[in-house]
Amino acid sequence: MIRAILSAGLSASLYAVLYAVFWAGPALLGTLATARAADQGYELIERGRYVATVSDCVACHSAPGGVPYAGGTRLFTPFGTLVGPNITPDKETGMGLYTEAEFRRVLREGIGRGEKRLYPAMPYPAFSKLSDDDITALYAYMMSIQPVRNVVEANQLPFPFNQRILMLGWNWLNFDPKPLEVRTDKPAEWNRGRYLVEAAGHCGACHTPKTMLGADDTSRALRGTSLQGWVAPDITGDRRYGVGRWSVEQIVQYLQNGSNGHSNASGPMAEEIQNSSSRMTEGDLRAIAVYLLDQEGRSGPAPTPVAATDPRMVAGAAIFKDRCSACHGDNGQGASYLFPRLADSGVVQADDPATLIHLVLAGSRAAATDRLPTAPAMPPFHWRFTDEQVASVLTYIRNSWGNAAPAVPPGDVGKLRAPLLAGE
Ligand code: HEC
Ligand code: HEC
Ligand code: HEC
Repeated sequence: MIRAILSAGLSASLYAVLYAVFWAGPALLGTLATARAADQGYELIERGRYVATVSDCVACHSAPGGVPYAGGTRLFTPFGTLVGPNITPDKETGMGLYTEAEFRRVLREGIGRGEKRLYPAMPYPAFSKLSDDDITALYAYMMSIQPVRNVVEANQLPFPFNQRILMLGWNWLNFDPKPLEVRTDKPAEWNRGRYLVEAAGHCGACHTPKTMLGADDTSRALRGTSLQGWVAPDITGDRRYGVGRWSVEQIVQYLQNGSNGHSNASGPMAEEIQNSSSRMTEGDLRAIAVYLLDQEGRSGPAPTPVAATDPRMVAGAAIFKDRCSACHGDNGQGASYLFPRLADSGVVQADDPATLIHLVLAGSRAAATDRLPTAPAMPPFHWRFTDEQVASVLTYIRNSWGNAAPAVPPGDVGKLRAPLLAGE
């Protein structure tokens, strides 16, 4: 629609140029300038569209199945539920009245129109590091989309968290809006990668452990943390827990296709890939990979695996052979692009086994992207296994083939079973 209007606009000015050549020689220069301005407007909007894609604005500002950017996404935080507001340029129910300066302030300072202090569920601590030019382009794009009337009540937090004034203190304690200075000791690609990961892509919003106050614990940046019922694993260059065992190409493939022959993306990462990283340029994905591989993982001695003779391991081995090895292989080696590898996998060895419990109880379908449209599925096992059996098979895969991670307590399975089956 926008494209159509713009190209109509462009061909109209082209027509004007031709007209001018024949009939109005002296007016030619002025008309050319108008054509160029239209061109620049188009380029700016396209650049803004890309910034919005990398920043995945659509994820939190669109209801499932609803109009993009019209709001209504429920976001669960440890403090209660927030709803992503309507950010289409509708003047009454969206952000149609926002000036560029006001929009810039949302991203830079987390302050909306009318001095509204936003909750950091809107990842402004990351967006505050966006470049001036990217914010200008993003504003041009957001103002170019179709306005949609849709009333959204964003804040559904209980008292006292519903008091926006609290954010004044939160920001004072946790928010340090420093721009990313270019690291001259690192290549340009690394610096671009840092910008994409730390600013626009806000990867740390999911992958960085949080402090008690829900802020990023930057001393453990990108080392993995629990989300609701999922785990966003360590994505540093750590070889056991992180992506250090992957090549740049394998990271690029994962972010492009949701699969790289080692691991398949599920849950929130599958969405992130569909909306955002599968639409990034290959150069940008390489930059992200170079930056991630250069991030330091946790230190300390390698953990000791649970002994193969432990009764939980013996029970788990039998279940694995029966129910899992047909797809994942006898030695957890997986099958390229179809079934993820479980040996030396960061997801399998993550501190919190929530993702594993989630997958075994409820099953999952991997991300389908344009490049890899058939998404293989993992069947649900909730109806077949007790909490104890799920715990045993997971303890087994976390401590076989070179993996080592704490045993899974059956109680952890029990805690996730009821909400998962109720579809929460
Ligand atoms: C991880 C989820 C998330 C992402 C990603 C996100 N937002 Fe938000 N955004 C929110 C939430 C939640 C709020 C409401 C916060 C509140 O009520 O304090 C919000 C608020 C806003 C507001 C203020 C609206 C108002 O009520 O005045 C604007 C503007 C906005 N976002 C724009 C964007 C843009 C542009 C992007 C992409 C660069 C983006 N958001 C990405 C969650 C998100
Ligand atoms: C909304 C939360 C969220 C955001 C934002 C997010 N991720 Fe993830 N990511 C996850 C989850 C959850 C997983 C685990 C997926 C699984 O278990 O299949 C994951 C997995 C990954 C993996 C695979 C790790 C492995 O060992 O299998 C990589 C690489 C990754 N993310 C990179 C990124 C990058 C780069 C960004 C920013 C551009 C990003 N993620 C943003 C939630 C997120
Ligand atoms: C019919 C084939 C099939 C069977 C049987 C199967 N899985 Fe899977 N499994 C998959 C597929 C496909 C995925 C990727 C799904 C996704 O990422 O959403 C997967 C993903 C996983 C993952 C996540 C790996 C990662 O890196 O993200 C784990 C762990 C896992 N399966 C464990 C098991 C266990 C334990 C069993 C037996 C109880 C089992 N699977 C049985 C097909 C299967």
